[in-house]
Amino acid sequence: MTNAEIVNLTHDHLVNVYGCTPIAFSRGQGSYLYDADGQRYLDLFCGLAVTSLGHAHPGVIRAIKEQADKLTHVSNVFHTEPTARLAQRLGERFGGKVFFGNSGAEANEAAIKLARRWGHEHAGGRFEVISTLGSFHGRTLATLTATGQEKYHNGFFPLMPGFKLVPFNDLAAAERAIGGDSVAVMVEPIQGEGGVVVPATDYLRRLRDVCDRHNLLLIVDEIQVGIGRTGKFFAYQHAGIRPDIVTLAKALGGGIPIGAMLAKPEVAASFTPGSHGTTFGGNPVACAAALAVLDALEKENVIANAASMGQYLIDQLSAIAKSSEKISDVRGVGMIIGIVVKGEAKPIVDACLAEKLIVNGTAGNIVRLLPPLNLSRADADAALAILRRVLTS
Ligand SMILES: Cc1ncc(COP(=O)(O)O)c(C=O)c1O
Repeated sequence: MTNAEIVNLTHDHLVNVYGCTPIAFSRGQGSYLYDADGQRYLDLFCGLAVTSLGHAHPGVIRAIKEQADKLTHVSNVFHTEPTARLAQRLGERFGGKVFFGNSGAEANEAAIKLARRWGHEHAGGRFEVISTLGSFHGRTLATLTATGQEKYHNGFFPLMPGFKLVPFNDLAAAERAIGGDSVAVMVEPIQGEGGVVVPATDYLRRLRDVCDRHNLLLIVDEIQVGIGRTGKFFAYQHAGIRPDIVTLAKALGGGIPIGAMLAKPEVAASFTPGSHGTTFGGNPVACAAALAVLDALEKENVIANAASMGQYLIDQLSAIAKSSEKISDVRGVGMIIGIVVKGEAKPIVDACLAEKLIVNGTAGNIVRLLPPLNLSRADADAALAILRRVLTS
């Protein structure tokens, strides 16, 4: 099928919630995507921070094929080796226990439910989750309520009880908001969807202290920035802290849907048999793909590349900003980068697309880059050449 045929067929039958760009991709290789008409695009978007090893990573492809040949599903009534091995790898990295779901929202939903169970058992029935304005935590009703952006709430009222929103990067506001019902603070280390908002360097550490003082759980949502994107496996490692719960999804499966909630053992113990679950959670194909992602991260110098190539991109973009009237700021850590533009991001994103470079617009005026973590210097320079043209013309 051609691009146009696929786009039209989609519009005829898919619920209209996405407002897709009218391009249909049929193949990917490394940092490049190919559309149905054979056009090649440099991908600095990674399907919203998912294909962090680029497209068709050989280790991930092999793992998926081998596992699909053997077994694709048994449910959580039984065990499989990839599920056990992935739980071990993630659990040991974090120092806790793991719950698998299929998406970011599901990982956060599990975190919220676990916090409520823990509050019920250990904190006198406290249940309220404090989250931040500008955040994005998902589209289920609970994660939507925790999401601090009105545009996502509109039309879905009443939202869930038991949530409170406070300004991001404001410790005093967080502390003031804590009341007799509060059980947890939920926060992104860097707000992704909210516009690549990087808080003060000591924000997370001091938020950890606030939670400790008030006996609250700290839930860190690393669905977008975890698994190496910031130049460390967990973004919270930059702050030298350990949350009580951390959530992962997106890049974990190398393109296969999987989400994970990791919790300290003493907190995880509040989930008991029958208290939570999902049919596809820990699916062996998804877990085999995730194991291959972890192998690649460990053996192929990917996280170090995310740190150094990300800094290179930020430095070069900051230099471009000096001669551009369109840029007001460049910010980010590692491979999550926001170019703050004067006016709307969309015309910039469209101009890049016309030059076969995929970037993303978010929060109105932010051009967001979520490149593959193993981006080469040559591909970084190719992207920068296009961005320079678009941003200085
Ligand atoms: C920080 C964060 N949390 C949660 C989610 C929701 O993940 P999903 O779309 O997989 O449900 C996202 C998605 O963009 C996200 O960026």
